[in-house]
Amino acid sequence: MKEIRIPGAAHWRGILALAGGYLLLILYALLLIVLNYAGGLRTYFAEQGSGFLSMGAYILLLFFIIYYYYYFEDRDFLVRGKELALIYTLIFVSVVACTLVGRYFSLYARPFALLGFLCLFLFNRRQAIVINFVFSMLLFVIDAYTSGFEAQGSDISGYASLLICFASGTLAIFVAGGVKTRGGMLITSVVLSLITAVMGFLVELPSTDLSDWIFYVAVFGYRIMGCMIAAVLALFVLPLFEVIFNRLTVFRLRELTSASAPMLQRLRVEAPGTFNHSLIVAQLAESCALAIGENAELARAAAYYHDVGKLKQPECFTENQTDYNVHDELTPELSADIIRSHAKDGYDLLMAAHLPREIADVAREHHGTLPIKYFYDKAMRLSGGDANIKDYSYLGPKPSTRIAAIIMIADASEAAARAIRDRSPENVERIVRSIIEERMDLDQFSECSITMRELSIIRRTLVEALSGVHHHRVKYPAIRFNRARQAVKEEKEE
Ligand SMILES: [Fe+2]
Ligand SMILES: [Fe+2]
Repeated sequence: MKEIRIPGAAHWRGILALAGGYLLLILYALLLIVLNYAGGLRTYFAEQGSGFLSMGAYILLLFFIIYYYYYFEDRDFLVRGKELALIYTLIFVSVVACTLVGRYFSLYARPFALLGFLCLFLFNRRQAIVINFVFSMLLFVIDAYTSGFEAQGSDISGYASLLICFASGTLAIFVAGGVKTRGGMLITSVVLSLITAVMGFLVELPSTDLSDWIFYVAVFGYRIMGCMIAAVLALFVLPLFEVIFNRLTVFRLRELTSASAPMLQRLRVEAPGTFNHSLIVAQLAESCALAIGENAELARAAAYYHDVGKLKQPECFTENQTDYNVHDELTPELSADIIRSHAKDGYDLLMAAHLPREIADVAREHHGTLPIKYFYDKAMRLSGGDANIKDYSYLGPKPSTRIAAIIMIADASEAAARAIRDRSPENVERIVRSIIEERMDLDQFSECSITMRELSIIRRTLVEALSGVHHHRVKYPAIRFNRARQAVKEEKEE
């Protein structure tokens, strides 16, 4: 029987998110009407029921603008639905924050920049600008139909407010773009608040009666407070959204890569060799991610945790061994099994510790389905050529993201560069090139969207960094002096 395909059926989660967000906002608008109109809903609908229908239509139109933005930009967004639900939730929270502050504190202190901050940290700059643009119109519509222009005065709920909301949110997105810490966020909000307050004053200058200067000073102060409230609220609610929607923000990534992160502390104490290796891979991965326009903070964090699976048996991995090698006493099959399980063990450990899935996925994928050459070779020698390559290969999956691919290459390049004496750019280039080519031959990049151009940028970045990271210490002259400062004998150089 032929399958019946319903157009857009794959987006049902996205449509559900839109419907849920819309319903929530309409219910909230009804609540505002009950609060703002003395006669309640009955009087409101008798007098301006058609206005409510207009508002409903406007809000639906604005919600669809966001929906169609993703329809053309990133359809996976609609298929998953979760992110779209987050966006409508953020809009709802921002509308609630603005209306509550406007109603119970001051109309001038509404935290217009809140949504800009939240979308910037939970999504990215481009999405934040689009969502903030829609939000400013949405707030304008809700203001207009639930409190009425006449009730609030056209200078506040009218076009000036629309303009200030849009400009303040957009400015917040621009000025907070480089913020990496929560402290930095507060400093940014001070800059933003001053700009917003001056801008607000200039926008309303034509209708300003400067003889009432006390009022304008108060408005100036309220606008400053509005931006500060936005920043503080953003910092307060961000962790909630990070956890509920399992989103990564620059703040969470910073915390995960700080020296006090519990699993990194464990790695430093229990597997110091792996810890040092991870630090170098993190530097390399960060540079590569920057070079190809990927999320450098995420690359760095994922690299820090890529080998935590080795915590299960740290002594089985070369970088943590001194003289004794446990593998001398094991069969190559058992050795390979221990080595390859570190990818899956890392994933399990990270998921159990509630670390972000993006980081856990990298731990599982960073060796793809590559063979463990050393033990395969040992098995071939011991068995006289009777060994199955599958028993000596990682279990996968292959890297599913560009960041996992970067870490796969940086990981192998770091280990190879550590093992060689000649770290001239030419030699490092030869090694990194062969690492990338081998992985291409073994089809390791077929599950991610990395391009040939990006692979060659990664190769150049790694060569530049590794020739620098592992440079040889300058050799000291092999002469020793006595107290009389005379050369007494030559010693073996370091
Ligand atoms: Fe590894
Ligand atoms: Fe590694």
